[in-house]
Amino acid sequence: MALKITVIGTGYLGATHAAAMAELGFEVLGLDVVPEKIEMLSAGKVPMYEPGLEELLAKHVAGIEGSSGRLRFTTSWEEIGEFGDVHFVCVNTPQKHGEYACDMSYVDRAFSSLAPQLKRPALVVGKSTVPVGSAARLAALLTELAPVGPDAELAWNPEFLREGFAVQDTLHPDRIVVGVESERAEKLLREVYATPVGEGSPFVVTGFPTAELVKTSANSFLATKISFINAMAEVCEAADGDVVKLAEAIGYDERIGAKFLRAGIGFGGGCLPKDIRAFMARAGELGADQALTFLREVDSINMRRRGHMVELARDAVGGDSFLGKRVAVLGATFKPDSDDVRDSPALNVAGQIHLQGGQVTVYDPKGMVNARRLFPTLGYADSALEAVRGADVVLHLTEWREFRELDPVALGEVTSSRTVLDGRNALDGAKWREAGWTYRAMGRPRA
Ligand code: UDX
Repeated sequence: MALKITVIGTGYLGATHAAAMAELGFEVLGLDVVPEKIEMLSAGKVPMYEPGLEELLAKHVAGIEGSSGRLRFTTSWEEIGEFGDVHFVCVNTPQKHGEYACDMSYVDRAFSSLAPQLKRPALVVGKSTVPVGSAARLAALLTELAPVGPDAELAWNPEFLREGFAVQDTLHPDRIVVGVESERAEKLLREVYATPVGEGSPFVVTGFPTAELVKTSANSFLATKISFINAMAEVCEAADGDVVKLAEAIGYDERIGAKFLRAGIGFGGGCLPKDIRAFMARAGELGADQALTFLREVDSINMRRRGHMVELARDAVGGDSFLGKRVAVLGATFKPDSDDVRDSPALNVAGQIHLQGGQVTVYDPKGMVNARRLFPTLGYADSALEAVRGADVVLHLTEWREFRELDPVALGEVTSSRTVLDGRNALDGAKWREAGWTYRAMGRPRA
């Protein structure tokens, strides 16, 4: 009999994982504690923007015409306990308020709600990003609270999906990492992931601590790579070098690689910033804080980028202050192809300028609803053209394709001043200059 799978928590990670498991052929039951989310998902609608996810969901949600019917959603823990052979815990672990450490309350609540419902043998698989040591603690909790006792087992299986590519990354992962303590757990997870493993995804088996650490160290490495190139951008600006050329040139070295070397206003989002901070906090608790002090520098290089963009913008509008100046901001999400504005560098820059007296107008292809919710006092426009109307400076802060395809001639006709600052090094500077714009990008010569 095919395994029955549950997915607990239906955010970016959980909703995608649930749909992907149904795509792989399993019967899936998803749970969330927010009834509105369950209503939406049950109607085949996704509560966020993620390319391809709504289509995948609609292909499998029970009750939708032509669907496989393999995917259902519920708010009942009892139903989850009765249904599942394998339970994936996909709830989020945000940064604690006022601290670097990770807030484990959603994970803890998920485990303490699930465990008492485990009346038959089950494998619980943690996917959330957690501080190392959490799995061992949660495994003990499971055995203690589950009616089946030791037959409720734990595994840790970190998730590496990128927003914007969540479906592809989940169906065709570049690796599958499982932290297990028994052959049974490994066997079950090999069964779950038989399709991607068959297609060539490496399957790495470790203990709990290593599996937990793989995720935080991978994100730390990525954050370090971005801050490295942003540090080079600072040096390039001081020395009149060009960080884009520099990144291209060092990227040809296979040991370095060209990816994640895009200099600009830095990284944001719901993962990298909070993960490196939680990692530092955890290392401190373990007495290994010295090993990660470099991440403090990675974090401050990154945060400095946002301030630097604000300075460039202030310079561009005359140097003294933003008072009475109109600033157009293209982009609100932390990266393109997402509607996620969590810790978004773009919105942070927009907010700083607004707080310094600038009149900021933001436009984003998909992030408007979330941006308005987070920063209701900023101005918003319905298109890039409307955002730049009358602007004294235009800031390009999230590299949506739509912005690369803008016509600088048309925009130039409605702005007050033709100055564009490229915070993502993604626009075609020559094209903008030809259209009469002053184009400035981070870490590149003024030209
Ligand atoms: C990240 C990890 O990539 C993923 O493996 C993990 O599971 C979750 O965290 P995500 O948050 O979706 O994924 O975004 P990512 O594509 O990593 O980008 C993070 C941030 O870095 C974005 O703000 C992006 O604009 C920025 N970035 C990325 C750069 O500034 N330069 C780059 O070269 C690459």
